[in-house]
Amino acid sequence: MKNKTPLLDALDCYLNKGYYPLHTPGHKQGRYFSPRMKEMFQSVLSMDLTELPGLDDLHQPAGVIAHSQQRAAKVFNANRTFYSVQGATVGIHAAMMALGTPGEDFVISRHSHRSVYSGLILTGCKPVYLPQRIDEYWGFVLGNDVKRIKEDILKYQQKALLITNPTYEGVNAPTDKILASLDSPAAVVDESHGAHYTFHSQLPVSALNYDVDFVVHGSHKTLPTLTQTAMVHAVRENYIRQISGFLDILQTSSPSYLLLASLDSAQEYLGSCGKSDWDGALEIANGLRRYIRQLPELELLEEEYVKGQGMSGLDKTRITVSSSKIDGGMLGRLMRKEKLQVELSGIKHVVLIVTPGVTKKEIALIKGALKNVSSAIPKEISYEAMLKLKLRTLVQALQPPEVILNPRQATYSNTKQISLAHAEGAIAAEFIIPYPPGIPLVVPGEKITYEIQKAIKDLLDLKIHFQGTFDPSIEKILIVE
Ligand SMILES: Cc1ncc(COP(=O)(O)O)c(C=O)c1O
Repeated sequence: MKNKTPLLDALDCYLNKGYYPLHTPGHKQGRYFSPRMKEMFQSVLSMDLTELPGLDDLHQPAGVIAHSQQRAAKVFNANRTFYSVQGATVGIHAAMMALGTPGEDFVISRHSHRSVYSGLILTGCKPVYLPQRIDEYWGFVLGNDVKRIKEDILKYQQKALLITNPTYEGVNAPTDKILASLDSPAAVVDESHGAHYTFHSQLPVSALNYDVDFVVHGSHKTLPTLTQTAMVHAVRENYIRQISGFLDILQTSSPSYLLLASLDSAQEYLGSCGKSDWDGALEIANGLRRYIRQLPELELLEEEYVKGQGMSGLDKTRITVSSSKIDGGMLGRLMRKEKLQVELSGIKHVVLIVTPGVTKKEIALIKGALKNVSSAIPKEISYEAMLKLKLRTLVQALQPPEVILNPRQATYSNTKQISLAHAEGAIAAEFIIPYPPGIPLVVPGEKITYEIQKAIKDLLDLKIHFQGTFDPSIEKILIVE
């Protein structure tokens, strides 16, 4: 194990040998591209290689990829680590396929990412929803509600389980307590937004410290890796063979070596500089938090607040702000006017993400922009009716309607499109997801009620964006025949 970056070293070594590329990819290390593409990307195109001698095989790793994954497992203190070049999405799919049994229950949260729902279609499992706590003041889901879980424990106990924690806003639910109560035979935590937790004691505790089978990290969200990269960490030993098999099925047979190289470099870099880098990021984030507190028109989500709502803590590098006068969409637009691009605009809030990539030199600019945003917020409240409706829809989306078929059964049924006006009582065959907040109002297999029909109509009147339906206007929706 002498190379600290085995894959990067192998790529370097390969390039130094000067082979002429009579193999895929067709661009031949950058020779065959438009002049514009060449100009913009030339320095990396020569490294866009494939599984060549000496570069190992992601599907049967025995050389530099295996070595790199072993080093990553050490950095994250995992039993085994698998690299994904198809995001956390494929990690979640593989974990759900490894842990779920077709036709059986899979306990998930309604506020799960869409990859969890597509995981239900792949596995053929039936969703059983954990209750969560919605913060109606802030207009988002805080996380799973331990108290309510315990009140109905038999519904969730001893079943395959997927916990989504933390949220986009960096709010952490007491996952350890949930796991202890449920005693699940198979458990995965979608920790996509918490891949950095391992590197600092002032960040929330990673699920890697808990008794679960897998923790999925969307590495590209907060760590120094390229978009589309992720890691699946196995904590227990139980399902390692299964997940390895499913990752093999689901991942492309032509993984990008640029993506793999970024994962390899990250394991080494995080192992050596993780703590000091995140020290700096926390200092910067805390400085920004102090600054925002004294801006008159912006409100900051505070750790004491989320703890007061039964949550276990807040990732301080997630900066969630709102204004009492404008909604999240307008706040996002004001930020963009000041050249700040936010991670997301929710019903009422926006989320800003700080990582070690935000440097001290840029802080004055960010503060100045935030000050201008605060000053530009209008004095009149203009959005109250719309906000109330969106909040009502959020509450409704989190109380799933009756599940008649599991999502896979509904997806594979004979289906037809009917007008939304006539859909009451029908079984949905597609997702209906208002965005924000991106939580499905309807999942395939659920019964469409009058209330859902009305909520969709009201939101359409407000020109809210929807995802999931084949007809983008949602005049027609797909139902099971
Ligand atoms: C909670 C959560 N899980 C999973 C994913 C999927 O991650 P990826 O885009 O890496 O596939 C996301 C993406 O936004 C997410 O927010």
